[in-house]
Amino acid sequence: MSLIQLENISKHYGKYQALEQLNVQLEGGMIGLLGPNGAGKTTLIRVLTGFLQPSQGRASLAGCDLAQPEQLAQLRQQLGYVPQHPAFYPTWTCSEFVDYIAQLKGMHAATERKAAVERSIQYVGLSDHANKATRQLSGGMQRRLGIAQAIVNDPKVLIVDEPTAGLDPEERLRFRHLLAGLGNQRLVIFSTHIVEDIVQTCRQVIMLKKTILYAGGLNELLEQARAAQVSWEITSPTPLYDQQLAIVSSSNDEQGYHYRIVGQPPAGSNAKPASSVGLEEAYLWMMQQASA
Ligand SMILES: Nc1ncnc2c1ncn2[C@@H]1O[C@H](COP(=O)(O)OP(=O)(O)OP(=O)(O)O)[C@@H](O)[C@H]1O
Ligand SMILES: [Mg+2]
Repeated sequence: MSLIQLENISKHYGKYQALEQLNVQLEGGMIGLLGPNGAGKTTLIRVLTGFLQPSQGRASLAGCDLAQPEQLAQLRQQLGYVPQHPAFYPTWTCSEFVDYIAQLKGMHAATERKAAVERSIQYVGLSDHANKATRQLSGGMQRRLGIAQAIVNDPKVLIVDEPTAGLDPEERLRFRHLLAGLGNQRLVIFSTHIVEDIVQTCRQVIMLKKTILYAGGLNELLEQARAAQVSWEITSPTPLYDQQLAIVSSSNDEQGYHYRIVGQPPAGSNAKPASSVGLEEAYLWMMQQASA
């Protein structure tokens, strides 16, 4: 059974089409949802969590058909969701907030709930701040509180929208590690426009830009990109100023200017196919295909 199944999902906001005919079938684990600003990541996530009705198509998550109200209600019991811009009651403490969410999720037994609140706050490393008002938290701490409230009911499916945005490098690493740990035992879908987040944590990726550019294994994607010879190395005696070139990296030494580019190398250049392809290059390649 596929854990995410999308069949011809489209979403219009009035006349504007944000998602076009998405078809995806993926198994569980950590799934990265990668796409540029405005690609439709949040829209897709809101469809997957049942907050938005698609204009067309069918979606199911963890075996629940989102168009069936009873199945959606069943999914919600097993779902943790961290929105892109989570909002907390500013004067409440972290514990109070997570406890409140736990009650909304139907955790009525007080002793069990208290233990679950403590456990999730500890899991995200906020125990020392549990009694701080949420308005006193740093951006990174707020992100962690977002996760704590989402995992308090030990959900089978965790969906996190742009969890690493605005984090410093150390905090971003800690966060990836946190998410990867959660992905060991459940389906985790996390959206990002940062390629490196995906490389470090996910074995599966959905690349989105209104339509699905790719959905499947990361290694298979890299293999496809390698076979399609998407990246090239060029050495030039003078700097290249061609605006059309997608330059991934550049350096210079006494031999000249060295570039790594994605896409067709310029005619007459001494371009050599690069021996390896990274996800960033595969991503640029996919984006080039999408706008071609
Ligand atoms: N409520 C809405 N009404 C009208 N258009 C919307 C609405 N929400 C999103 N859109 C449009 O749909 C497109 C996709 O937006 P969405 O927020 O899903 O993108 P995203 O990939 O999450 O972007 P970001 O990386 O900036 O968060 C954008 O063009 C956006 O302007
Ligand atoms: Mg978004």
